[in-house]
Amino acid sequence: MTPLDTLQKAEAADHALAEEMDRLVIVKSTIYTSGERDPREPQPRQDDKGKLYLMDRDPRLPRMPERPTLFDFFKYRIGPATHMLQSARLAQKNGVSEKIILACLLHDIATSGFIRSDHGYWAAQLVEPYVDPEVTFAIRYHQVLRFYPDESVGYHYPESYVRLFGADFKPQPHLERAYKTAREHKWYMTARLLTVNDLYSFDPSVQVELEEFTDIVGRHFRQPEEGLGFDDSPSAHMWRTINWPTRYL
Ligand SMILES: [Fe+2]
Ligand SMILES: [Fe+2]
Repeated sequence: MTPLDTLQKAEAADHALAEEMDRLVIVKSTIYTSGERDPREPQPRQDDKGKLYLMDRDPRLPRMPERPTLFDFFKYRIGPATHMLQSARLAQKNGVSEKIILACLLHDIATSGFIRSDHGYWAAQLVEPYVDPEVTFAIRYHQVLRFYPDESVGYHYPESYVRLFGADFKPQPHLERAYKTAREHKWYMTARLLTVNDLYSFDPSVQVELEEFTDIVGRHFRQPEEGLGFDDSPSAHMWRTINWPTRYL
């Protein structure tokens, strides 16, 4: 294909997308605009004359396969996963168990691809039907354990948190309770080792490929044959929402 052909193809695709967008009304979920907008006020109305509300894939997003795998979500919906990949690689280098490596690979899947607030809980719920309960536990509690040092494994309060949240930040009572629950749990050390390998800062120039973890994911993530989102698991709807974040219903 000549460069001109490529250019023409790209222009044709742009044109098709613009036409498709003209026929559709695409709205954002309240949670994605709450904070910028007073949620007590009605959503601003878009001009919907002669248009249909989106009930399928969003034409602006890269197309997902019919039966999407975990890696498809990483590639097409979960924005640069460098931090998770680097922390999984660090965990591997440190010789921890495969379960912890997998937990590292998945731990911030919610901040990168779904919802940031309470991200440990969302991520845990999302992967729960597909992984060992110990992996879910580590992911759920890493969020809160990050606030509490554990000198026994050389984990200090992150300097970056002082910069991000201020020197006076104190975890709220619900986090304090969650910390105590995690601290007394038999899987505490699994979650703690996730935080040890959860890099404070990461080097954007270090490339880690998803494929490095194909075997670990194959052994420890029960990939549904129907594709994530279509297997009727308790979190299938969450995967569908990540796949189709702007469907009207
Ligand atoms: Fe996190
Ligand atoms: Fe992290």
